[in-house]
Amino acid sequence: MSVVEVRTAPAYGVVIERGILVGLGERVRGVSSAAKTLVVTDSNVAELYLDTAVAALEAQGFEATSFVLEAGEKSKNPQTYLNIIDDLAKNGFKRTDAIVALGGGVVGDVAGFAAATYMRGVDLIQVPTTLLAMIDSSIGGKTGVDLPLGKNLLGAFYQPKLVVADIEVLSSLPACEWKNGVGEGVKYACLAGGEIAEILKRGLNESNLERFVYLCASYKADIVARDEKESGLRMLLNLGHTLGHALEKQSGFTMPHGVAVACGIERMAFAARTRRQLSVEDHEAIRAMLVKYSLTCAADINDEILAYVAMDKKSQGKEHISIVEISGIGDCRINKMTYDEFEDYIMTKQGV
Ligand code: GLY
Repeated sequence: MSVVEVRTAPAYGVVIERGILVGLGERVRGVSSAAKTLVVTDSNVAELYLDTAVAALEAQGFEATSFVLEAGEKSKNPQTYLNIIDDLAKNGFKRTDAIVALGGGVVGDVAGFAAATYMRGVDLIQVPTTLLAMIDSSIGGKTGVDLPLGKNLLGAFYQPKLVVADIEVLSSLPACEWKNGVGEGVKYACLAGGEIAEILKRGLNESNLERFVYLCASYKADIVARDEKESGLRMLLNLGHTLGHALEKQSGFTMPHGVAVACGIERMAFAARTRRQLSVEDHEAIRAMLVKYSLTCAADINDEILAYVAMDKKSQGKEHISIVEISGIGDCRINKMTYDEFEDYIMTKQGV
């Protein structure tokens, strides 16, 4: 078992181990005095793990009910959020009760936002079931839903009481979800370098998976503890996201988030190499990781994509874009630029 401590105020743990879903009740009991728990999950995860989670909670005396949303990014909307709130109210949940988010990034974000706002906040326990959620979205307290004008426009920072990551559940992860998670993993490899990058270069497998989740979670926990509300340092975690979000939007959200982020990283790495900020060797190593996991980008960064970037920033009323530049594997920096400067940067041609 590995435990990562996220030193926010208050602090909480990320417990990582194979087979710990059956002991979920005891772990929740350790952090919450709730009488009722609502397990929020999606239609795919419900079939596989909902019964186990509910039984584990009931075994510890919790009254456990569930809310199952339709799997997919399209469920990350205000209506799903309001339906969860309705469910809590109809079932008499009190401020001392708890929400358990059992699923991937969408479940964690929507259920987290419900926990942040129902009766001004109830206990939240994140139980990520995808690689992406284990290494990224379940940690750090970003919760929310998408609006027609943009992703995550309605949300809150709300830290969970506990994150329970059962590595065993990843054995049922479909191939597209692996790619999605590894896309965010490449982000950590670029940011942190070291063992995270080595594992991805050698190959992520059964024997190093728990270690990989632990290392990524530790890196994120450290950043979040130093900049919980993303006023500076935490922006590093947005490496590849400016283009990534635009690509997701252009695809009508059919392109998975982690795959879009990998695409953004590929393009940022290329721009950095052509500007001689990134060595040929490190650029080749990043490319090799992307190739190894079939994450190289098929999308062309064209005017339509750039228009989405501009729209996204305009809707947030920002003059400048905070861009994460890659100077080396394990050496990334935040740089503020105007939209026009970003366009020049990203459209850099070979030989600059
Ligand atoms: N996924 C980036 C962050 O949590 O800040």
